[in-house]
Amino acid sequence: MNEQQRKEMSQIRQEKPADVKSDKDNLERIKQKTSEDFMKYFETTYQPPSLRKAQRRRKEDVKIHYDFNISEEMAGVGEGRKYMIRTYGCQMNEHDTEVMAGIFEEMGYESTNDTKEADIILLNTCAIRENAENKVFGEIGHLKPLKLENPDLIIGVCGCMSQEESVVNRILKKHPFIDLIFGTHNIHRLPQLVKEAMYGKEMVVDVWSKEGDIIENLPRARKGKIKGWVNIMYGCDKFCTYCIVPYTRGKERSRLPEDIIQEVRHLAAQGYKEVTLLGQNVNAYGKDLDMGYGLGDLMDELRAIDIPRIRFTTSHPRDFDDRLIEVLAKGGNMLDHIHLPVQSGNSDILKIMGRKYNREQYMTLVHKIREAMPEATLTTDIIVGFPNETDEQFEDTLSLVEEVGFEAAYTFIYSPREGTPAARMSDNVSMEVKKERLQRLNKIVNQQAADSMKKYEGEVVEVLVEGESKKNKEVLSGYTKRNKLVNFRGPRSSIGQLVKIKITEAKTWSLNGEMVEETIEVK
Ligand code: 5AD
Ligand code: SF4
Repeated sequence: MNEQQRKEMSQIRQEKPADVKSDKDNLERIKQKTSEDFMKYFETTYQPPSLRKAQRRRKEDVKIHYDFNISEEMAGVGEGRKYMIRTYGCQMNEHDTEVMAGIFEEMGYESTNDTKEADIILLNTCAIRENAENKVFGEIGHLKPLKLENPDLIIGVCGCMSQEESVVNRILKKHPFIDLIFGTHNIHRLPQLVKEAMYGKEMVVDVWSKEGDIIENLPRARKGKIKGWVNIMYGCDKFCTYCIVPYTRGKERSRLPEDIIQEVRHLAAQGYKEVTLLGQNVNAYGKDLDMGYGLGDLMDELRAIDIPRIRFTTSHPRDFDDRLIEVLAKGGNMLDHIHLPVQSGNSDILKIMGRKYNREQYMTLVHKIREAMPEATLTTDIIVGFPNETDEQFEDTLSLVEEVGFEAAYTFIYSPREGTPAARMSDNVSMEVKKERLQRLNKIVNQQAADSMKKYEGEVVEVLVEGESKKNKEVLSGYTKRNKLVNFRGPRSSIGQLVKIKITEAKTWSLNGEMVEETIEVK
């Protein structure tokens, strides 16, 4: 939305009376959300993010703001009220939820998991595949009765789906009881948007086609005290032909090293034991800063911080450079696990996916990593059934999985995403064939996962204990440096600590073990 559009939008908002708090008014408010006024605005003035514009975007200066604050008027608005955020999708979304939770809590809201108790419910959505979107539309349908019961309830949709024109249109037309839609770049405007949703009559839509600036001092209500997420960059410039992310998350913008280092130091001082650096393509970190400083340099500085574990996600093979491998190989608090999405094992498919590497280049990178870090766990993401993928091309994916020896993989059936180049390709592969391919692939991945676990039987590993196991409250669980899930019986005092566990039994996706010493290593 440009300035002119924003102005027009706020004019529409200001035409509404400020006080609409009575039930009768609120019912009126729900009806008025479909108002022709607003639809007209949407059809004539609103500009969705567009492929053409997104690809033309330039490296103009991204502004960094250190002055986020919540206006006095909104600071106490949440007193006696509760918020609920339901999160879909990746760790980036989970972390955005922590930021929104932090903002709500600064406004005085308390969190709840009960939709019936909530005064405001946000769905933080994911657009990566169609089934992710379907889940959200299903949930929107479930929330409607709550809204009819309690017209004061505010329901909002945010995250990646809000950045898609088709989604915004569908909500406007079919789900007019939604109060608020906002995108991924304007989370910091949450207090203002809540205010508009509370006191305005029409649906508040705040989605930008421009990528956002970097807002530094946002509050965060972190989930847990053991593992923390730290954004190092936002957006993606890779434009893989199947992927919606560059449109929903905008262009690559890196945070300054000193801001990241300070945040990690702060987490270490608070007793966090593991930090995950987040970005859609973390290996591109620093390129936009033009400082000759990349992820390897950042990791080298973070190595010196007194925190037991540092990891990052997600990597792109094209940008994974020697400097990073050299730093990771130094060990210490750098984890022995690299998630390196390959997507396909066939060079022609990789080419039309726009991945900018071929099979041979990927394998060269794998060999380099293995040479420098012989013990490292390699995991990956794979898409099967890309448009017109032949049996032979799919077989190349299977052979690559075996050649690399991935110990785990997230595997997906290709899902066309409106607005992406791949969605315009014709496709001669039936869904039945795609499902069969997925099953064949998963069988191999599962076998490799099980084999990699077997090797640990009888070994002693170091586990960062996260808490009770999800399946059995009597059992504690945590991960090793190589990202293996370990379950064991032990004292609750070991939660949040690094402990030594002797592995007694290997399963496909986890290891069972016993504590070998009750003395806890405190780092
Ligand atoms: N269809 C299926 N899978 C996709 N991914 C991204 N876009 C799509 C799509 N359109 C997968 C990729 C990526 C992971 C996060 O999701 O494997 O690495
Ligand atoms: Fe999507 Fe990852 Fe490709 Fe970026 S690098 S376009 S996030 S798959």
